[in-house]
Amino acid sequence: SAAFSFVVVSNRLPVDRVVGPDGEPSFRTSPGGLVTALEPVMQQADGAWIGWTGQADDHVDPFEHDGIELIPVALSHDEVERYYEGFSNDTLWPLYHDVIAPPAYHREWWESYVTVNQRFADRAAEVTAEGGTVWVQDYQLQLVPKMLREKRPDLVIGFFNHIPFPAYGIYSQLPWRAQIIEGLLGADVIGFQRTADAGNFTRAVRRLTGYQSKGAVIDVPVEEPAAGVVEGATHRIARVRDGKLVRTVVAKAFPISIDAERYEELARRPDIQARAREIREGLGDPAIVMLGVDRLDYTKGIGHRLKAFGELVADGELDVEDVTLVQVASPSRERVRTYQMLRDEIELQVGRINGDYSTISHTAISYLHHGYPREEMVALYLAADVMLVTALRDGMNLVAKEYVASRFDNDGVLVLSEFAGASDELRTALRVNPHDIEGLKEAIMQATRMPKAERARRMRALRKRVQEYDVARWSSSFLEALATPAESLPL
Ligand code: G6P
Repeated sequence: SAAFSFVVVSNRLPVDRVVGPDGEPSFRTSPGGLVTALEPVMQQADGAWIGWTGQADDHVDPFEHDGIELIPVALSHDEVERYYEGFSNDTLWPLYHDVIAPPAYHREWWESYVTVNQRFADRAAEVTAEGGTVWVQDYQLQLVPKMLREKRPDLVIGFFNHIPFPAYGIYSQLPWRAQIIEGLLGADVIGFQRTADAGNFTRAVRRLTGYQSKGAVIDVPVEEPAAGVVEGATHRIARVRDGKLVRTVVAKAFPISIDAERYEELARRPDIQARAREIREGLGDPAIVMLGVDRLDYTKGIGHRLKAFGELVADGELDVEDVTLVQVASPSRERVRTYQMLRDEIELQVGRINGDYSTISHTAISYLHHGYPREEMVALYLAADVMLVTALRDGMNLVAKEYVASRFDNDGVLVLSEFAGASDELRTALRVNPHDIEGLKEAIMQATRMPKAERARRMRALRKRVQEYDVARWSSSFLEALATPAESLPL
């Protein structure tokens, strides 16, 4: 069988399954930034991508798509329920997002998580060439590094956690907290979004691995970040047994980004600019368009945003004749109960605000429960005077970066939650605590009143950051760390 020297493993393959008019399924590249970033590396390095097609009981042979070898892993109906909807999205997801929703702990879900992680690890072990590199993505696959190392000690293994890593007081709820940490420590480099996440992880390592009493886990930040450098301190976790260094693992922050150039290119296209004007006209040409764009997820603080907006309209600070809020909420994880409840809450809230304050000609909130192609999203970004990102907890939030990358006109105001990873980098956004409704209302009003010169000054600084630290830079700095033997790092 074929052997690949660079293999990415993620829960989902970077493709969407589309069924043609003839009923034949085919695949379309999904617009994620990860695939854009890794495409050049994959094509150069003889790469393959292992993942799930997104459908239960879907047995598809490996195939090539856009120059990348895709290797599907099948999940049964039962595994979709227990591993994906259950353990990944009803246990880990709420736990890692600071228990905004209560995590459910079920032993059958955990067992399924172990089984499915083993399947991904086995597949990676089969297809990776001698001495090759495997890069495992995200919380659905935290056991894969250890499982893979056991079968293939010759491989270089990286792991990147796209979501937050919680403080130990929260993480320690997890009945399988030690197994997950051990699973991750199978990697050579473990990447996180924020410096704080890498710190939480190394503290969990110290508390849970049981080596600390023998002095066998050492947690040393080896280098403080220089000013303006985006990566955080490097934590070197050394495993020593009987006085001998067994292995060294590096944990460090590598904030993910987007293909900024691609967004600007789209935003400069005349047809997309025309579409942006059309959107504003369609909304009744309000003086101010506000925008929210999220997966419909309880971590995104959509309810807090609607509350602040609704109160401003009720107080008479905002007038629906002049201001409209467009809220795009793309459907997500719809079979998980917490998501169904969230949808009901949000739609009730939107319905109430619109019922109370819309007029025949002006709707207070345009609520759209759909996903849109990237072109349409860029048109929306161009049409929006104020972008509202009010996540209660978010690994990064790429929507904030997409908005900034699209605004080549140096206009528009970003209101950004300090609980989104992006807030570490996007310092000239109007940063808010979304729990503080008064503060959020003030920031929204400040955004609507901000003079053009100040908007331009802030947006220029935001754009500089997003253009410099784009997704290509993210993947190259991670892969560079992976290629550097940890033992050679200075102490
Ligand atoms: C987040 C996670 C990803 C996940 C995505 C969509 O961004 O970090 O791993 O793929 O949400 O969620 P879904 O459950 O549909 O894959």
